[in-house]
Amino acid sequence: MMQPNYTYHLFFCTNTRDPENPKGSCGQKCSMQLRNYMKTKIKEMNISGIRVNAAGCLDECDKGPVLVVYPEGVWYTINNTNDVDELIEKHIKNGQKVHRLLIDKNIDL
Ligand code: FES
Repeated sequence: MMQPNYTYHLFFCTNTRDPENPKGSCGQKCSMQLRNYMKTKIKEMNISGIRVNAAGCLDECDKGPVLVVYPEGVWYTINNTNDVDELIEKHIKNGQKVHRLLIDKNIDL
């Protein structure tokens, strides 16, 4: 069986904890809606070779909503639809990391 060949494979944490849970969760910060927005936007823009998967907890809950972009393995905090738009424009379309959204600001750009 042929494996799909993605240019970028994205994992968006959509884990949702009980609101009382002190750890918090990406799901409580609208990550599911942001993931859906991103999927729709990529489709509308007709960009092929991109997969945006929902992921379980990625263990960076306080920095969420967390999104990881492979193959580079770059971790981002995505707070709103503007962040999604900028990530698509820069990283997905042009292969440039978006510094202001990086979880680890020290990685090579
Ligand atoms: S709940 Fe998203 S990283 Fe833990």
